[in-house]
Amino acid sequence: MIRAASKLACLAVLAMQASSQESAYVGAAACGGCHPRQFESQSASGHAQTLHRPEEHPLHEHFQPRRPLRLEPRYRFVYSLGAEGLHVSADDGEYLLDLPLEWAFGAGAHGVTFVSQSDERNYVEHRFSFYARANGLAVTTGHESLRPETLHQAVGLAYPAAAEGIGRCFACHSTGGVSFGRRGEVNVRERGVQCETCHGPGADHIAAIAVEDRTGARLAINNPKRLSPSELNEFCGACHRRPKTPSADFDYREAWNVRHQPPYLARSRCFIEGADLSCLSCHDPHEDIRRENAAYYRKKCLNCHLDGGPEPASACGPAARADCVECHMPAVSVGDHLAFRNHWIGVYGEFDKTIPSR
Ligand code: HEC
Ligand code: HEC
Ligand code: HEC
Ligand code: HEC
Ligand code: HEC
Ligand code: HEC
Ligand code: HEC
Repeated sequence: MIRAASKLACLAVLAMQASSQESAYVGAAACGGCHPRQFESQSASGHAQTLHRPEEHPLHEHFQPRRPLRLEPRYRFVYSLGAEGLHVSADDGEYLLDLPLEWAFGAGAHGVTFVSQSDERNYVEHRFSFYARANGLAVTTGHESLRPETLHQAVGLAYPAAAEGIGRCFACHSTGGVSFGRRGEVNVRERGVQCETCHGPGADHIAAIAVEDRTGARLAINNPKRLSPSELNEFCGACHRRPKTPSADFDYREAWNVRHQPPYLARSRCFIEGADLSCLSCHDPHEDIRRENAAYYRKKCLNCHLDGGPEPASACGPAARADCVECHMPAVSVGDHLAFRNHWIGVYGEFDKTIPSR
């Protein structure tokens, strides 16, 4: 997850949150009172579920391997559930280091990475993460090539207890801002990507409704519906990474980058030449993502490709009767346990799934 911490994108999130700081945050439950439809489905989505205390995570039972995990050359990790929650005890045959698992990042569809405060100045991103594909713990993506020389290094990767350190992770995985206390403890206003991440703080909106000022209420809340597709790429890109123009420094062949959807989508002819293709064409921001649902996405493609364009079934073969994304938005593997859909919609050859063959 190290490369996930892009400085630029993170600053943008903080700026986004700071710019609307005049009004106050009220929390998703308060919005739910008047917007129950959005609240119910959004609260169950990957966005809302992306930050937990490990023992409260829906998948917590999978966070305790039955047997110790081993790491070359001499480290051993034992996970256990005590009165204060989940712990990991790491030893190198000589010394023992015990660390509570404090935070669980990730809703779990792909993976869950643990983060703990190790002392007043430092946090650690744990060596082992949960991966859905492995249905258990495995070495955290990005740590595979690290060769720890001490027990402290073996436990995970250190990050400073600061906004520009571990604070970046919390900023993209929570709502309403992140701060650090005198002892380096992190304060998160609301866990997960909740209503006010995208709509801005809601106190003024609610106050205006209370005095039946409908116009005031609309003005006091952001509605991203008004954004153009390019603006939405920037908006969602605050966390999903913005399209880079010019793109000289962005490596589209690096498999890891495929998880950054806005830059890839921005390269598609569908986006460049299509009138209004945006993230919202295929994803409802208040719902959990539709997974493994070829028919759902095919319908989205045919919204544009039945009118005037080439009849896909003949250009693409009989498989096009059931699916489009398997060929045109191929899954790209990152390491052993992760795969992401390539949002550069295009025609791919047999081998390279990162850049279209034409
Ligand atoms: C007391 C009830 C109430 C609460 C609480 C409330 N809203 Fe609303 N909201 C409304 C009503 C009523 C409208 C419709 C206003 C109109 O268009 O006449 C609305 C409209 C909206 C809109 C559409 C604005 C537009 O551009 O037309 C958004 C977005 C929204 N609310 C988000 C939120 C969020 C986020 C929260 C929590 C921070 C929230 N609301 C809390 C009553 C409420
Ligand atoms: C504050 C940061 C942030 C913003 C802004 C944001 N996202 Fe996300 N998004 C995340 C994180 C973090 C996850 C990972 C969820 C998880 O743990 O699986 C995610 C996951 C997703 C998923 C997969 C969700 C799932 O159910 O598995 C979709 C789709 C998505 N985002 C679309 C969007 C769209 C569209 C927008 C803009 C309207 C947007 N996001 C804005 C942070 C953000
Ligand atoms: C710039 C915003 C940003 C930062 C900084 C960030 N994340 Fe994320 N994170 C995301 C988004 C967006 C997703 C969803 C990506 C996807 O699934 O396509 C995500 C997904 C995840 C996931 C789910 C598994 C996966 O790979 O999809 C984990 C675990 C995670 N992040 C942990 C972390 C940790 C730990 C840190 C800090 C070391 C961190 N993130 C920093 C935005 C961010
Ligand atoms: C990832 C960003 C994101 C999050 C989180 C989010 N929304 Fe939205 N919301 C949007 C976008 C984009 C639109 C405009 C497109 C649409 O209506 O789907 C929108 C539209 C709305 C509207 C206006 C609907 C209309 O008919 O115009 C309401 C009300 C609303 N959201 C409430 C909520 C509430 C309540 C929550 C939390 C439970 C929430 N949203 C969380 C992105 C988000
Ligand atoms: C908003 C409309 C729109 C949507 C939705 C859309 N496309 Fe496109 N797409 C276009 C346009 C416009 C072009 C360029 C003209 C053409 O080739 O018809 C295009 C081009 C393409 C191409 C040729 C790409 C190239 O580089 O030569 C493929 C393949 C394609 N689309 C597949 C898809 C698939 C698969 C989906 C669904 C996942 C989809 N499109 C969704 C509008 C759209
Ligand atoms: C043409 C349709 C389409 C558009 C437009 C689109 N997506 Fe997706 N997206 C998909 C498909 C298909 C998947 C894979 C769903 C599955 O897991 O089966 C996906 C998956 C994702 C995921 C989960 C990560 C993964 O690969 O499993 C995230 C996050 C996401 N999209 C974000 C975005 C964002 C942000 C935008 C706008 C920049 C966007 N998407 C635009 C079709 C689309
Ligand atoms: C089995 C893989 C496969 C599937 C499934 C598939 N396609 Fe294709 N598609 C291709 C290939 C290969 C080409 C390039 C054909 C060529 O250049 O002769 C192509 C070309 C296209 C083009 C560009 C045509 C042109 O002349 O530039 C569009 C648009 C397109 N497909 C849309 C779709 C849509 C929409 C679906 C789902 C209904 C779909 N495809 C399903 C493999 C597939």
